[in-house]
Amino acid sequence: MKKTDIDWGNLSFSYMPTDYNVRCTYKDGKWGEIQVSDSEYVPLHIAASCLHYGQESFEGLKAFRGKDGKIRIFRMEENAKRFIRSAEGISMQPMPVELFCEMVRKVVKLNERFVPPYGSGASLYIRPLEIGTTARVGVKPASEYMVIMLVTPVGPYFKDGFKPTRVCLSREYDRVAPKGTGSIKVGGNYAASLVAGEKAHELGYSVMLYLDPKEKKYLDECGAANFFGIRENTYITPGSPSILPSITNMSLRELAGDLGLKVEQRHIGLEELGTFEEAGACGTAAVISPIAEIDDLDTGDKYTFGQPGVAGPWSTKLYDELRGIQCGDREDKHGWVEVLD
Ligand code: PLP
Ligand code: COI
Repeated sequence: MKKTDIDWGNLSFSYMPTDYNVRCTYKDGKWGEIQVSDSEYVPLHIAASCLHYGQESFEGLKAFRGKDGKIRIFRMEENAKRFIRSAEGISMQPMPVELFCEMVRKVVKLNERFVPPYGSGASLYIRPLEIGTTARVGVKPASEYMVIMLVTPVGPYFKDGFKPTRVCLSREYDRVAPKGTGSIKVGGNYAASLVAGEKAHELGYSVMLYLDPKEKKYLDECGAANFFGIRENTYITPGSPSILPSITNMSLRELAGDLGLKVEQRHIGLEELGTFEEAGACGTAAVISPIAEIDDLDTGDKYTFGQPGVAGPWSTKLYDELRGIQCGDREDKHGWVEVLD
């Protein structure tokens, strides 16, 4: 059932049907025309390589409604480039950047009535995905692919929005292998994270913070988000080959520099965790989720950041600046936003 009476201010981060999705297939060595569909289903061969061997990658980006009523899409070229890297990383056909952007514009325009109003705190989440569709039983890349883009209006990723959350860490779980697929956005990474994520939830934490999969010495991913810490006017975020290069983090590093912070992207040893004045997780879905506390499940150590229940001053400034640019309230001096006509 497609809703028409949406309570924009109370949306959660969940799927709601919208009017249309767009699709494009790669067949006989070329990408076809963009197709518009009003079906929520995909016809798939029972032997399709995405079903058996996990040839699947996806992206996540957002569109926002500004005070002027116009729709703004945030940094879609960066998602297009990462979509190419993900495809190449699991031997799928990469989609050209311009075709990706055309599909994004089209799916947003077709579902314009689902772009939440300015000031609601909600946005339109755009989910592109690519699957290998060739019928295969041998372990071999598909020769035919489909890219689908769906959209759904979303509220905050964590139910409390921009409120500090509790995170746990453990050496018992790896999200990815040291030279595996951690730096690309493929479905298999998320399947591999579900047990650890559920464990964190059962224990009352919002996510599991992973240590690097090789030595278990450095901070890695924070659930499905990048980690950052702030200490002595410096924004510090892990530089690691097993984490996904977050477009939000890339943007926050630039904004941190604009605000006069030093920026460091490097290995962060676990022993450094206790030295941060502020800590946070960042990604498209949450933008920034401030972290109040990190508990080491293996040693019983607890690390706390800032005043209980309050986001730190730098995290708040960075959040306001990024949200401001996304909604058109602050000057887009880096040229990150495409305003749709
Ligand atoms: N890390 C992982 C594992 C993710 O799934 C995401 C979400 O896309 C991020 C980090 C944040 O990346 P971005 O800011 O590009 O959304
Ligand atoms: C993000 O956009 O930050 C995410 O982590 C996406 C998630 C829903 C897979």
